[in-house]
Amino acid sequence: MIILDGKKISNDIKDEIAKEVSLIKSKGEKAPHLAAVLVGTDGASMTYVGAKVKACERVGFQSTLIDLPEETSEEVLLSKIHELNTNDDIDGFIVQLPLPKHIDEQKVLMAIDPEKDVDGFHPVNVGRMALDLPCFLPATPFGILELIERYGIETSGKNLVVMGRSHIVGRPMSILMSQKRSAGDATVTLVHSRTKNLSEITSKADIIVAAIGISEFLTGDMVKEGVVVIDVGITRVPDASKKNGFRLAGDVHFESVSKKASYITPVPGGVGPMTIAMLLKNTLLARTRRL
Ligand code: GUN
Repeated sequence: MIILDGKKISNDIKDEIAKEVSLIKSKGEKAPHLAAVLVGTDGASMTYVGAKVKACERVGFQSTLIDLPEETSEEVLLSKIHELNTNDDIDGFIVQLPLPKHIDEQKVLMAIDPEKDVDGFHPVNVGRMALDLPCFLPATPFGILELIERYGIETSGKNLVVMGRSHIVGRPMSILMSQKRSAGDATVTLVHSRTKNLSEITSKADIIVAAIGISEFLTGDMVKEGVVVIDVGITRVPDASKKNGFRLAGDVHFESVSKKASYITPVPGGVGPMTIAMLLKNTLLARTRRL
């Protein structure tokens, strides 16, 4: 069994990006600039945004964190987005999800200039992705493709099961893996909360991408010997033995599944760091497109 080391691969990618940034700067050009908008004080979102800003520093990007209070109106958020769309110094930006309930998420995502939409959530980028046209790929699926490619895992003709149909992970993952590409050409099945005989489907899978948001849902008895498992989930599970009172768990029951898997991502240190690296890659792409 081989652990898919997202931490190591993401560091390799960050090194590659840092080199490109040095090259841009050596030509007298401005470094890429990523802005992140955070509304409210959700603990997990604050951690993710903090990690994204820190990653910018590591590769030599400029970054701006726009921290807005929970009670920010949709109107104020939309005007902030307009400012970022028109600010020539910003190459790309993200609005961290989830947003507070009084804000219409779709309306906000649609307000982002597709050319600066480095999360790839705008319908123009989603449509371009579905049609195999140049676009910003959503960072988590992009990171999974990169991890699979860099480990040389064969996907062509394989039975690949995506668990979960979210707009951020499950849905784009299912589209990308069915396309003609080096990590792709798979026979894709997407399963979700209404799927019947789920175990029957997962037990036939050569590759499983688990993104259902239920901790340790996929267990050893649901998979076949030699399966490749990509765990996208990350949930805080109460654990009295930990100083902070919780541990991080994925959507995969690691102990039982890893006994049968040929490759498996750990949580943390698997998909999470890859997501951040690919956000940086998209920001670099946004910058070079504007040069
Ligand atoms: N919330 C969970 N994942 C993501 C992501 O990739 N981007 C943004 N903006 N919010 C998220």
